Amino acid sequence: MRGKFITFEGIDGAGKSTHIEWVAERLRTRGPVVTTREPGGTPLGEDLRRLLLHRKMDLETEALLMFAARREHIAEVIDPALARGDWVISDRFTDATFAYQGGGRGLALDRLEALETWVQGSLQPDLTLLFDVPLETAAARLANAREPDKFEAESRAFFERTRAEYLRRAAQAPQRFRVIDATRSIDQIRVTLEDILASI
Ligand code: ADP
Ligand code: TYD
Repeated sequence: MRGKFITFEGIDGAGKSTHIEWVAERLRTRGPVVTTREPGGTPLGEDLRRLLLHRKMDLETEALLMFAARREHIAEVIDPALARGDWVISDRFTDATFAYQGGGRGLALDRLEALETWVQGSLQPDLTLLFDVPLETAAARLANAREPDKFEAESRAFFERTRAEYLRRAAQAPQRFRVIDATRSIDQIRVTLEDILASI
């Protein structure tokens, strides 16, 4: 049986990476789990990630490189794992491109839709966990956590647009998305995650 594909999304500092290993451990009781991330997930993709997170570039170049890294990731990691019947958990996927390059930077969504069809065919996550927090919460968490990369140094308005685009997409595909109130404590969020995992 084909495996299931779960993606974690949210603005920087929402807290999604904090929960990935915990979710992976829960799922390991049910079968093999592959955890991965975007941009990245393959040697080539990790090289592209370094460029994407640290080099300034034209917006369309940025979107194309995100999808180039994604193509490699799907071909080398995601598709083979799903075909083996594994669970695949990815820290970000295409919703991030719609939210950041589309919502945040303002790239036309129909451009992104064309790339999505080209690169993914019919592949879509079975479940997307959207960690949602107001900007102030995300900014406060990041200020304590790490040096900002190119995206994390963006303006408040950029992240407002990014968050809004994530929420718009979630409202459009309620069967795929679960929006998680990530302002709560890590333990409270785990209770919600446990319920969601029990239902898939
Ligand atoms: P993301 O992957 O969404 O950018 P992280 O998981 O790296 O976010 O979390 C950013 C920071 O916030 C980390 O220092 C983390 O320990 C902290 N954090 C994560 N979740 C919570 C939470 N529910 N409450 C308080 N702090 C949190
Ligand atoms: P992430 O791995 O969440 O960063 P960190 O390791 O710092 O938690 O994501 C890297 C950054 O790339 C993040 O700011 C969002 C951005 N990004 C896009 O702009 N578009 C995309 O398609 C993807 C996958 C990520």
